[in-house]
Amino acid sequence: MKAKTILITGAGTGLGKELAVVYAQQGHRIILVGRTETSLNEVKEVIESQRGSGIVKTCDITDPNAVQEMIQQLLETETIDQVINNAGIGYFRTLQDLTMTEISQMLDTNVKGTIYVTKAVLPTFLERDSGKIMNIISTAGLRGKVQETAYVASKFAVRGFTESLIKELAGTSITVSAVYMGGMDTPFWDDSDFVTDRSRLRSASEVAREIVEREDEEKLIIE
Ligand SMILES: NC(=O)c1ccc[n+]([C@@H]2O[C@H](COP(=O)([O-])OP(=O)(O)OC[C@H]3O[C@@H](n4cnc5c(N)ncnc54)[C@H](OP(=O)(O)O)[C@@H]3O)[C@@H](O)[C@H]2O)c1
Repeated sequence: MKAKTILITGAGTGLGKELAVVYAQQGHRIILVGRTETSLNEVKEVIESQRGSGIVKTCDITDPNAVQEMIQQLLETETIDQVINNAGIGYFRTLQDLTMTEISQMLDTNVKGTIYVTKAVLPTFLERDSGKIMNIISTAGLRGKVQETAYVASKFAVRGFTESLIKELAGTSITVSAVYMGGMDTPFWDDSDFVTDRSRLRSASEVAREIVEREDEEKLIIE
């Protein structure tokens, strides 16, 4: 298998971290993206302790200029082969109890962040007529759920974006896929009491291994 350079957003914790570790174990170089440098550096250390290779880029993906600048800088020294749009946030309450700020943070991160990163990397993929884009969605991108209105809206949006981009890039060798998984025990739930028993959720490392095994599926559902 040819070693790739894979950019993962939200790579400092949870699923992003586990995907970084599994892909690094397979010999791929990982570009770890997130807002918190310390957690990204910790993941880089884990990867390097297993003889893998990773680099850290701090970036708030809700800022389109910062995203553009990050990708431009990276392309001076790296060839990006794959992007995993994994960074995401969720607030789980009834619509009447969600704040306007929480709603816009979810849409800005989950929807616009995914679109900004994809758009910033697309020119180099088109130029080389190769590349892989994987969008981490959720079963919240498959059906509506109580107390998840705005989160589900954001994930339906990423699904629509993904399905449309697949069609738009059909004549190229660039592949685009979506991953729909159920609950995982990650820091995603740290500030929430929405999930009462986190021990019943799947571990992120188990889900990451399954994603990597099935990475060629255009619509990957893990329930
Ligand atoms: N946990 C679940 O039950 C579950 C289920 C289905 C789908 N998902 C989805 O899986 C993905 C990963 O979530 P997770 O469970 O692994 O949660 P997590 O541990 O909270 O990971 C989310 C990551 O996104 C990063 N992030 C958030 N906002 C960002 C921003 N503006 N710019 C750059 N990075 C940002 C966070 O790092 P910083 O705060 O340092 O930036 C964090 O490392 C999300 O898209 C989530 O919606 C989760």
